[in-house]
This record gives sequence, structure tokens and C-alpha cells, in this order.
Amino acid sequence: MRLTILGGGGFRVPLVYGALLGDRSEGRVTHVVLHDRDAARLSAVTRVLAEQAAGMPDAPEVTATTDLDAALRGADFVFSAIRVGGLEGRADDERVALAEGVLGQETVGAGGVAYGLRTVPVAVDIARRLARLAPDAWVINFTNPAGLVTEAMSRHLGDRVIGICDSPVGLGRRVARVLGADPDRAWIDYVGLNHLGWLRGLRVAGRDELPRLLADPALLGSFEEGRLFGPEWLRSLGAIPNEYLHYYYFNRETVRAYQEADRTRGAFLRDQQARFYDEMRRPDAPALATWDRTRAEREATYMAENREAAGAGEREADDLSGGYEKVALALMRAVARDERTTLILNVRNRGTLSVLDADAVIEVPCLVDANGAHPVAVDPLPGHATGLVCAVKAVEREILTAAGSGSRAAAVRAFALHPLVDSVNVAHRLVDGYTAAHPGLAYLR
Ligand code: G6P
Ligand code: MN
Repeated sequence: MRLTILGGGGFRVPLVYGALLGDRSEGRVTHVVLHDRDAARLSAVTRVLAEQAAGMPDAPEVTATTDLDAALRGADFVFSAIRVGGLEGRADDERVALAEGVLGQETVGAGGVAYGLRTVPVAVDIARRLARLAPDAWVINFTNPAGLVTEAMSRHLGDRVIGICDSPVGLGRRVARVLGADPDRAWIDYVGLNHLGWLRGLRVAGRDELPRLLADPALLGSFEEGRLFGPEWLRSLGAIPNEYLHYYYFNRETVRAYQEADRTRGAFLRDQQARFYDEMRRPDAPALATWDRTRAEREATYMAENREAAGAGEREADDLSGGYEKVALALMRAVARDERTTLILNVRNRGTLSVLDADAVIEVPCLVDANGAHPVAVDPLPGHATGLVCAVKAVEREILTAAGSGSRAAAVRAFALHPLVDSVNVAHRLVDGYTAAHPGLAYLR
């Protein structure tokens, strides 16, 4: 089984490789092809993987290439985890928006729109090549904004592209943990768009346990989302929102926290990751130890500004070790071995949320087997959540239009119609600011 990783010089690749090393079952991945446009990043990551595999007799073979078509040809699975514009671009996404007083964040608000505008054309190019070079491959999309990018790719690959995110799984696990339930046996009733979903129930043996959590302020204060949103707001909503909804429900506070931070998340990571890749240029640098130290710091500081704005304190130890690679491996195993399982994934809606059309990519529990991911039926969202989902999906559609046609007017609409952008004038200035900052947006006319 051959797995190609696009963005193969990326920092999280060793997480995926670590998960593959732990997979001893038949039909597992035997060959990993790393693709990246940057050979130095590839060599840094290859060194980390070699140290991970040391002493393991049948570790998956690793090859690296900067030739995209060569990487795609012959792939059984493709993980797409690219970052168009790099972390420099992420920091610019934040800076331009914050200068206009609106949220600049990797995937949410104006920052997410800018990131989408420069990522979609690249993702579409990859999807077209894949349809030609590896039409039977399954594509697992981690590339953010993951829902939007999955939808862009699905126009060329149909249901062969499946989007993943670790945040709904993390939320489900935390809620199960505080309720004393086994997360692998509980049914998580979760739906929305990527980074815009709500957990409305957690069923164990036919009984919804969420009301017990909502009724107990001490339990509500004992996990990440409880501390971020506050017990009162969660009780009032009657659901637990994805952590990314903190940017919506506490927009003023999160914008201010980002503006007042020494460095935004993107700027912090830009510098932190540059140090890592620089250190890896030294032939004697201990690759795995350096990577692991950098990873621990990255994980401990995840959403630090939000936690500070909410007075939520430090992250819990249990929350530190991602889950990103586990979702990817679970999905790949279910498809490759026809091991039926349920996972929360980004797939085409079909009729799941009746307010959206069939091709809209949503994030929803899916039954997965060798035929792919099949969304399960869910209850409709309440009006307030439907409103946000429809507004943000309309923004995503404007981004897809802009990326497909080069229409600057569509890009302005994408910013202006976003619930976290408060003026059409601001939207115009954002398009000006972002096109000046990002060469990847030169296609907008
Ligand atoms: C979570 C989200 C990802 C996002 C990442 C950002 O894992 O699900 O979509 O990219 O956080 O983490 P970072 O360390 O880059 O701020
Ligand atoms: Mn995500």
C-alpha cells in the first residue's frame, strides 16, 4: 500500500508516520512518498522519520520528491496537508485583518477567507492532476480551510476526497471523558461545517448524557470548551460548540486578544518553525529530539490567546497529543480493509442538512467502509446555528467563484458577506491589503 503525503516537508508529518509505525495489521502502508516543493524541508522531515523508524524491522519505506506528478502516480492514498504561502502567509492573513479591526485567523473570519482564496486554485490543480494520474486513489484532505478545500476538490474527484479535522473528535473525547463514558462506544451527535459545528448530544446505551453535563456547573468547568465558553452560555445554547466558535461568540474579545498579543499565532509559529528547519540544517542536530521539543511547545500554546481572553488557564495534558494522525489512520484503515467504522468527516451533504444543497461539503458523522464515507442522518440544527452555517457556506461559495473565475467582485463579496466582517468598505480594503501581501492572489482581476 502506497501513501503519498503532499506537504511532505510539513511539521506534522512525523505524527502521521508515527501512527503508521504503530500499525501492524495486514494491508498496512508499506511505502510513504513525501512530496514538497522545498527540498530542505523534505530532508529535515526525512531525518526525523529515519530516527523514528530506527530499530523497527519493517518500517514503511520513505522516499521524497519535489516532482508532484511523480508523487501522485501509483498512489493508493494521498494525504494533502499543504500550506499555500507558508506560515509567513498565515501571519500576513492575521496582520492584514487585525489592522482593519476584524478577525485574522488561520481558518475563521477574514483570515480564513484570504487563506481560502489562495489555497483553492492550488488544491484544484492537484485534484485535476489526481483525476488524471491516480483516478482510483483516495484523497484525505487535511489542507485548511478543510471543508472549503474538500468541496473545491470534490468538484473534480467526487466522493474520492474526504476532509478530516481533529477538533470534533477532540471535543467528543473531552465530553465523553467528563461524563465518564467510553468515547469509542458513545454516539456523538455533532454536525456543522468544518470549524463551525455543535455537539448536541452524547448517547450511551440509548441515553443522551449531555443534559447531565449541562446541568452540572462543576463538570462544565472541568474541560476546555466549558472553560472557553463558560457554563452559563453552554447551558443557554443547550449544546457544546466546536472551540473555533469562540471566535464568533466572543468575537470582540478574541480580536482584541489577538491585537494585543506580542505575536499572533501565525507569527509565533512562523518564527518557531523557522528555527526548527534552521536547526535541521546542521548535520549533527538530533532530529527527533529537536522535532519533539518543538512539537510540545506548539501543542502547549495552541489557542493560547483564546484561553487567556476567557481566563481558561492552561491546556490539559490529555488534550495535548492531537488526534489528527489517529483520525487519518482510522479513515485509511476503514477504507483499505473494509473495516466498518464511524468517524466525523467532511463530505458532500447529499440530503443530510436540508438547508444546504447536495454538493455542499459539511462535517458530520459518517459510516466508513471500502466504498468511502457515507453521512448518517442527523437532526436539523436550530435556527441560530443554521443561520451561521448558511452564511459561511455562502462565503465559501463566493471564494470558489472567485478562484474559478478570477473575479475580484466575488472576492469582495466573500469578505463582505462573512458574519465577522462588519462593512463592505472593510471588505474592499481587505481585498486590496491581501492582494498586496500575497503573490498567490494575483489572479484576482
Ligand atoms: C487544530 C485544527 C487544525 C488547525 C490546527 C492549528 O488541529 O483542527 O485545522 O490547523 O489546530 O494548530 P496550530 O498549532 O497550527 O495553531
Ligand atoms: Mn481542523
